[in-house]
Amino acid sequence: MDTPVDLAVADLHPAVDDPALNSMNFLNEVAQHWPDAVSLAAGRPYEQFFDDDAPRRWLERFRRHLVEDQGQSPAQARRTLFQYGRTKGIVHHLIAQNLAVDEGMQVDPEAVVVTVGCQEAMFLVLQALRAGPRDVLLAVAPTYVGLTGAARLVDLPVRPVAGGPTGVDLADLAEQARRARGEGLRPRACYVMPDFANPSGVSIGLDDRRRLLELAAEQELLLIEDNPYGLFPAGDQDRLPTLKALDTRRRVIYLGSFAKTVLPGARVGYLVADQRVAGVDGTVGLLADQLAKIKSMVTVNTSALAQAMIGGALLEHDGSLVSANLRERAAYARNLRHLLAGLERRFPPPSLATWTTPGGGFFVVLSVPFRVDDALLRRSAERYGVLWTPMAHFYDDATPVGALRLSVSAVTPDQIDLGLDRLAALVADELDHMPAPAR
Ligand SMILES: Cc1ncc(COP(=O)(O)O)c(C=O)c1O
Repeated sequence: MDTPVDLAVADLHPAVDDPALNSMNFLNEVAQHWPDAVSLAAGRPYEQFFDDDAPRRWLERFRRHLVEDQGQSPAQARRTLFQYGRTKGIVHHLIAQNLAVDEGMQVDPEAVVVTVGCQEAMFLVLQALRAGPRDVLLAVAPTYVGLTGAARLVDLPVRPVAGGPTGVDLADLAEQARRARGEGLRPRACYVMPDFANPSGVSIGLDDRRRLLELAAEQELLLIEDNPYGLFPAGDQDRLPTLKALDTRRRVIYLGSFAKTVLPGARVGYLVADQRVAGVDGTVGLLADQLAKIKSMVTVNTSALAQAMIGGALLEHDGSLVSANLRERAAYARNLRHLLAGLERRFPPPSLATWTTPGGGFFVVLSVPFRVDDALLRRSAERYGVLWTPMAHFYDDATPVGALRLSVSAVTPDQIDLGLDRLAALVADELDHMPAPAR
């Protein structure tokens, strides 16, 4: 019997049928369909760290802050927490303090917009930068799919810039900007993740950070710096300064997330946009205020209760998420080392499998000499009981990719061992079935 239909997808915004927007759903569906498979796919925080009592405590801590530090009456504090609120948020001052304490960044609290996750921050920035059909975005590839999907929704084409082993190929960035201009297009910004990138795991060195800022100024590009993993180095090395900390010319729009450092369920992130924007009437304001206008039409304001929890967590640790995450950092570092050692044992040289060796973060990329696609992931889940993420999801074209992303954040070392045993069996079987090389 024919199923009656009311609408055709062809009559909806083209983005809804785009691979970038199907990507997250597909990966979630696979995980739900094979719940017993070991998941080296999810980049989620480790759930044993969740604490039932913490959100209540954080809420109360923030409420006290409103009364004791900000001089609000109990009724005003109740309004701040329960009522519609300031579009740019109510924990902006604590975020500015956090960035000063942990990153040495001096940020005007007025340049902060608190968003519904970092995902909303990306959307607001891209929507604002898409002024017309000539505008394009450059993005270091492989690229976080949430960025590509958001760009689709605002009709902003994304042009890849090679990431390579150093995190960004600066010559290619200059070339892509030049080429876009040669085509009559206007490259507005380059999206980049300098610290333990998702998905590559690669970080950009200090000299290249400085050169990237120089190049952005030369090319009149903004840099959109996304930094959800910077607090999780695997060794004792000093963390590198963020691009924003090195930015003396207001080239960088900084994106932050509290999903990995406080609580993903709160769905709170933020952006720092201190760029000065000239109005048609000659007045000059902050880009943050223009972005807040867009936010007012997307989510009105970020949940005050959710912000209050994040604010309470920040207050509890005197503004430092570094000190709030000592246990998490140690566990993720241990897992990353465990995964890298496990890969070495299972794929000893000379092996056809190679992998990245990140200095921190959640992700490692394993490259293999066969195509890694969604069909292989399904087979891996069904027959081998292990989940991972095909790297093809992080490239914005249909070129076959022979690589997969492994995540260490949501598992134990034992689960990593089991997952790697299963993955090694899959890789061995795939290599067995590869056609013999032509003579
Ligand atoms: C690179 C990157 N940016 C942004 C996000 C989204 O962060 P949020 O959960 O705060 O929306 C993620 C989430 O995994 C991410 O990996």
